[in-house]
Amino acid sequence: MSETTDGQKTTLTMMTGAPVPAPAEPLYATGAPAPVGQPGTEMVTVTIDGKSMQVPKGTNLLEACNHAGADVPFFCYHPGLSSPAVCRQCLVDVKGQPKPVPSCYTPVADKMEVITASPRVLDIRRQMLEFTLLNHPIDCPICDKAGECTLQKQYFDWDAKYARNDGIKVHKAKHVDIGKHIVLDQERCILCTRCIRVCAEVAQQPELTMAQRGDHEVLTTAPGKRLDNPYSLNTVDVCPVGALTSKDFRFTMRAWELQATPSVCPGCATGCNVEVHTSREQIYRLVPRENPYVNQYWMCDEGRFTYKRIYDDRLGQPMSGGELVEWDRALEDAARLLRAAVDQGAGKVGVVFSAQSTNEDLYALSRLAFDSLGVTRAYVAGLDQGWSDNILVSADKNPNTAGAIAIGGGRLKSLMDLANDVKSGAITTLLVVGERGVLGDGGTSALPISKLQALIVLGWRKGPLVNAAHVALPLADWAEIDGTFTNRQGTVQRIRAAVPPAGDALPGWEIVTLLAHRLGMPLEFGGRPSTSPPSARAVFLEAREKMAFMKNADWGRTSLPIQLRFANSRG
Ligand code: SF4
Ligand code: SF4
Ligand code: FES
Repeated sequence: MSETTDGQKTTLTMMTGAPVPAPAEPLYATGAPAPVGQPGTEMVTVTIDGKSMQVPKGTNLLEACNHAGADVPFFCYHPGLSSPAVCRQCLVDVKGQPKPVPSCYTPVADKMEVITASPRVLDIRRQMLEFTLLNHPIDCPICDKAGECTLQKQYFDWDAKYARNDGIKVHKAKHVDIGKHIVLDQERCILCTRCIRVCAEVAQQPELTMAQRGDHEVLTTAPGKRLDNPYSLNTVDVCPVGALTSKDFRFTMRAWELQATPSVCPGCATGCNVEVHTSREQIYRLVPRENPYVNQYWMCDEGRFTYKRIYDDRLGQPMSGGELVEWDRALEDAARLLRAAVDQGAGKVGVVFSAQSTNEDLYALSRLAFDSLGVTRAYVAGLDQGWSDNILVSADKNPNTAGAIAIGGGRLKSLMDLANDVKSGAITTLLVVGERGVLGDGGTSALPISKLQALIVLGWRKGPLVNAAHVALPLADWAEIDGTFTNRQGTVQRIRAAVPPAGDALPGWEIVTLLAHRLGMPLEFGGRPSTSPPSARAVFLEAREKMAFMKNADWGRTSLPIQLRFANSRG
């Protein structure tokens, strides 16, 4: 296959023709401190617990302490947000200062000498912890945050004493419906203000505030507001306790039962890095995974619910002639239909590439279509454009438009061209790999399916196109496969299988390889003969060699899911 594309330089244009922005800079920037040790910045010398080190000027002292190996606890500090220094957990002694200072609010200065665990500091931290716990309910056995709660962790790490308060605690509202996705328990709130800052600084919609004073102070919604911004569920992630819970996740699974698999959100072209949290082969939630160049610490609410697609009316078994059949029969039927069309002339076969597929699926398909079958008519499909903002969300609702366009190159035409080519009889047989959006988001389009002699669909879900197919082959979906997506910046990012495929579904590259074998045109990846399908990694490695846009891509290490039981606190 000829190398015709450069993903970094390709102007991304979705099916509807609107340009997709491809920013070179990190997509999102907060006032977070520069990472400790970043080259090119002015350095200062600081001594932390007797250890002298150089850090960039202006580094947050809390970051510097923890980088030096000191374990300085904190509640209100978050590296992606401003620092109000309200919880006083992070106090440290600085030589020359009469009182301990909040390290989260203090930039390092040259020749600063810091002691992170002096008797005075430890005593004050314990007192602050006791104060924070004074009116905190003993909800742990029924709290969603139990097992990943920062308050639990700090208590066991730094105090672990019985409460001295045997009086009646101040009671507050336990179940406040503050937004579309979130329930607030005011008693559990430790008034750290992280959630308020997420709304104001990340979502840029100040919807939360504090009300009342003293031990009656509560988190609440601002007058006339609900917590309904498109990034609202990030408040649940940053809440150090179980005060904010997600309606979708609460009471479904204990945190310590979950396993985390690193992956990428398929909701739009931004490609936010996520963890897929699973238990017993079922997905329970997606949470953001830090990537300073893509999504920092955040993801949008819409992206969090993309996992539900995995369970949405899936095609789990091959079909031929409208009947459920075994793989063997379905592949044979598909190969027969393709062979018949090729015998009429390869130009009669059209192939649809999906912007929802991985680079590996698309690359394998390009080998079959262009190199083996000699197809000259190829098209790109995907979900229609939608809303966007200047925070994270892209108008392009496909995770791999950049990959599809780079791999298909100038050969890919639009869905409008596809409809015209079917109408005119230019193509009589259509092979679709990934049905999403081929008929438009509402399942209607100008595509005259009845004019096709043969329709072969590799599909994720049942629907009009799959139902109309002469042969339908079940595709494993995004959270069920290993592979890569290319985001709108041109960054190739790894996705990992978190759950097994639905039914008998297989990855796209594997179905394409099996089909090629049936056609008597076996594909080789990396020069290895493939009597049986290769691995996704083998396809990736060859694609990386041949495709300029993938040349710096990294498959990464094999990564077993992390059990959250061993992953410390979250938030
Ligand atoms: S609800 Fe959670 S994040 Fe918000 S102020 Fe309370 S403890 Fe902090
Ligand atoms: S911005 Fe896009 S990629 Fe990021 S979480 Fe939302 S839908 Fe997913
Ligand atoms: S983390 Fe520093 S005062 Fe809260």
